[in-house]
Amino acid sequence: PGARPLAGHHVLVTSGPTHEPIDPVRYIANRSSGKQGHAIAAAAARAGARVTLVSGPVAIPDPPGVTTVHVETARQMLEAVEAALPADIAIMAAAVADWRAAEELDAKLKKDGTGAVAPLPLVQNPDILATLGRHHTLRPDLVIGFAAETNDLKAHAEAKLRSKGADWILANDVSPETGVMGGDDNTIHLVTTSGVEPWPKMTKTEVAARLVERIADRLGKSGSG
Ligand code: C5P
Repeated sequence: PGARPLAGHHVLVTSGPTHEPIDPVRYIANRSSGKQGHAIAAAAARAGARVTLVSGPVAIPDPPGVTTVHVETARQMLEAVEAALPADIAIMAAAVADWRAAEELDAKLKKDGTGAVAPLPLVQNPDILATLGRHHTLRPDLVIGFAAETNDLKAHAEAKLRSKGADWILANDVSPETGVMGGDDNTIHLVTTSGVEPWPKMTKTEVAARLVERIADRLGKSGSG
């Protein structure tokens, strides 16, 4: 492998939250900071890969040496991901909003004075990881997702491998007491079809470096790297 083990490979990464508009001033979002996905994009670039990062709205800078595409919604993220194909390796680290408002209102939703609350119908967003994992023509050789869970980490991650057609899932515990969401540390279990590898608690930068090592090992074994 050497110092640039991902040279010659295109790595596609998603990162950050998505923002799903409700009306011109409001949106549905989540607490993802983008730190983990951005660290992975940066580590892959340092390892010599050509990297495309599709990022939702975050407060951190674009990583150096990476082509960053900025999007807001899940649908825009999917479009940007599909536009970036083909890729050899896809790492879907974004915390994509599961739901969006069924309709984006043209005018600000108003209180009506009676205390009555208008219903806010939601519809499900497209699943970007599953779209790549099950892609008929341009499935990346290695499709990697995250599973942020608060309980039954491994069982949920194994189910996710199957349901999304992913090769690897990095499962992490995002219970509030762990401080993972927005924090600098992460405790990962790498779940693959051949088993579960628990990683010690480490920084998101270290997680990114270890993931790149695992990817380089795998490329070495399949003879394409
Ligand atoms: O189903 P769940 O949201 O727990 O799955 C998490 C994994 O799926 C993450 O890798 C995330 O980036 C990806 N995902 C996605 N598109 C969605 C929902 C999740 O790519 N709409």
